[in-house]
Amino acid sequence: MSAHPNTTPDLLLGQTLTFEGNPFLDGPSAVRHERRGAVLVQDGVIEAVGAADELRRDTPNARVTEYGDHLLIPGFVDAHAHYPQTAIIASWGKRLIDWLNTYTFPEESRFGDADYAAEIANRYLDLIVANGTTTVASYATIHPQSVTALFEAAEARGMRLLAGKTCMDRNAPDTLRDTAQTAYDDSKALLEHWHDRGRLKYVITPRFSPTSTPDQLSALGALWAEHPDCLMQTHLSEQTDEIAWVQSLFPDARDYLDTYEMHGLLGAGGVYGHAIHLTDRERARLLEVDASVVHCPTSNTFIGSGLFDMDGLTTAGMRVGLATDTGGGSSFSMLRTMAAAYEVAQLRGRPLHPTELIWLATEGSARALRLEGTVGRLAPGAEADITVLDLASTPAIAQRAERAKDVWEALFATIMMGDDRAIASVWIDGIRAI
Ligand code: GUN
Ligand code: ZN
Repeated sequence: MSAHPNTTPDLLLGQTLTFEGNPFLDGPSAVRHERRGAVLVQDGVIEAVGAADELRRDTPNARVTEYGDHLLIPGFVDAHAHYPQTAIIASWGKRLIDWLNTYTFPEESRFGDADYAAEIANRYLDLIVANGTTTVASYATIHPQSVTALFEAAEARGMRLLAGKTCMDRNAPDTLRDTAQTAYDDSKALLEHWHDRGRLKYVITPRFSPTSTPDQLSALGALWAEHPDCLMQTHLSEQTDEIAWVQSLFPDARDYLDTYEMHGLLGAGGVYGHAIHLTDRERARLLEVDASVVHCPTSNTFIGSGLFDMDGLTTAGMRVGLATDTGGGSSFSMLRTMAAAYEVAQLRGRPLHPTELIWLATEGSARALRLEGTVGRLAPGAEADITVLDLASTPAIAQRAERAKDVWEALFATIMMGDDRAIASVWIDGIRAI
């Protein structure tokens, strides 16, 4: 797995946070904070997490990196993003369908050019790593070369990354339409080349029901049935206008989720972005099949979509991830995304604790992508993707952290006010990247 097998072990010293349970179900006791902690890394894998004194004593040959009061956490896992929208992030004034037609589709049309795709893929990964994100599940465009560009850029950085060709065969410009057959063929060829190659995973990716004919959805459902170990990602119930449109396009469907189920696109390993305006039947069915939903709070406020039911869905036991949804989302930062999740939950009357926010951005997203135990966790056996937070990265944050009674209060100031300046260091696959 590691790019550097049999290297000297690295011992990273600082404050550490480790989860022993799910804070949504088990409360704040699910997390353990070590004031003088350490993480031992070798060959891309976390070997041990514990008290600094003990691990120093037990591993005298390790190369020590001292992070002082900084906080070591798992690298952030962004469970839903569109890397091709990097250059049009923060585009003004539209709601979902107009936003797609006005800003997104013209930009995505450019990704038939492999050089442009590579330029944006590299720019995007540099931006997210600078923001402490070490794993992302991204949509590409309909162009196979847009998938290749992202996987190549991730491979060069040693990143664990998931992506797929975005399939659309209707309600999109000519430049962005494939067919049921080419969607199947291209997705299959990309899957066979990239899936489980090193740290990469292919994700079957119909954009959403409005831009796929029933034939295309069925073709991708068949591909998923042939490769059930792959994830399948799409969008679900983001805006009320969109839901009404889906109803008119699929008059026989019981609801939006049913448009996927009718075509073999519902199951464990299904990752449904947004999932804001769910009916009781849709919730029950998602739970029954153990599918995942992904909360994209900066997108939901930016595009004006609505308020995700974090409390209801997490306490019901749903797999819930957290994501930027770049560039419908207005930030590359999972810190900013946690802040927006806090604000959205406040508008629904449920303040999320910092442990819950950090859990969502790491273990929660990893679970949503069925990568629990692999990334998103500081624990022995997990891959060594580590983000180091400076909890006093700006004068404004530092003066608030000064008053903090405990690590949660200090961390919360960085969650609410922090940005890429709070990212002191990033380790990817056991190698320091920043
Ligand atoms: N629904 C279908 N495509 C998209 C997209 O690119 N962004 C968002 N936010 N929603 C979508
Ligand atoms: Zn999206």
